[in-house]
Amino acid sequence: MHPRPPLPDGASRRVVELACGAPSVHNTQPWLWRVSGSRIDLYADRSRQLPFSDPTGRNLTISCGAALHYARVAATALGMPAEVVRMPDPHDVDHLASLQLRPGPRPPDAVERLSALGRRATDRRRFTSWPVPEERLASLAACVKRSGVRVLPLVEPSLRFRVELLVNRARDQQLDDPRLAAEQRAWVDRSPLEGMPSAALPELAAQQPLSRGGAAPTAPDPVEGSDGLLALCTDTDAPSDWLQAGEALSELWLAATEEGLSVVPLSQVIEVASTRFSLETEVFGGMTVPQIIVRIGWQEIGRSQLPRTARRPVDEVLLT
Ligand SMILES: Cc1cc2nc3c(=O)[nH]c(=O)nc-3n(C[C@H](O)[C@H](O)[C@H](O)COP(=O)(O)O)c2cc1C
Repeated sequence: MHPRPPLPDGASRRVVELACGAPSVHNTQPWLWRVSGSRIDLYADRSRQLPFSDPTGRNLTISCGAALHYARVAATALGMPAEVVRMPDPHDVDHLASLQLRPGPRPPDAVERLSALGRRATDRRRFTSWPVPEERLASLAACVKRSGVRVLPLVEPSLRFRVELLVNRARDQQLDDPRLAAEQRAWVDRSPLEGMPSAALPELAAQQPLSRGGAAPTAPDPVEGSDGLLALCTDTDAPSDWLQAGEALSELWLAATEEGLSVVPLSQVIEVASTRFSLETEVFGGMTVPQIIVRIGWQEIGRSQLPRTARRPVDEVLLT
């Protein structure tokens, strides 16, 4: 057998750089990476966990799962498909994954995949009123082939109504809680390298101040009747499920991006314990655990590009 050719210099670092383009809750980028040769290890960065809205680290781990999926897509597209071991160290719950890159052929869709990684973004502007057809939602849901994760289109009118109600209730509860409002505010225009720029939050103006207190205007409803809705659910509710849900979120989001569809996660309904419970029991009958809801739709043709949400330089996320 011939020895495999070595990977090009800097290949693993390039994979990490591309992985950091993944979505993360409030753009916290809660990940750390260790690179040694062709091996990459992914760790949760607990210093970036949101203590009030994410005390268990669910959103942190979903965000790292999305980064793991980005890393896998990048590695494959660059001709170095990765073997992945999730949660490789039972004594270190923050060691989320280990990737071993191996030289391989570049797949025919490499350019499209790398382009989707670069183009994917959270565009929160109102979608057009064209409803996303049920078949389209079903085919997007079917893109995610991952044991233990289910992607469920929410189309039945009474279920949708219930979900919209819970999404609004969670949003209102968080706006009324000064600690949560302050936590969210701390990640808006936080720095040029992290957090969400106010320019990417078109609804901010309508919901000022973030804490509604007193006579402040009510924020617009996050979900419109024509928005497509999908729920990403898992069989159980452990950190390994959250990681897989994050990978599934990224898988779905990249597939939607390639089809010209826009995706916006709705995590508040899961963050608030009472609405999460209602969603799980009343909407899903206790049969599956919802991890995140997303709304999907088309942005108007010819709309201006939103400014990109920034990322930290790769040296800041690399462990030495
Ligand atoms: C776990 C998770 C939860 C998120 N929750 C929300 C949300 O409730 N509302 C929202 O507008 N964006 C949400 N986002 C999107 C992030 O704010 C967004 O990914 C981040 O600001 C980076 O911007 P980008 O996606 O444009 O790269 C979430 C993303 C992740 C990964």
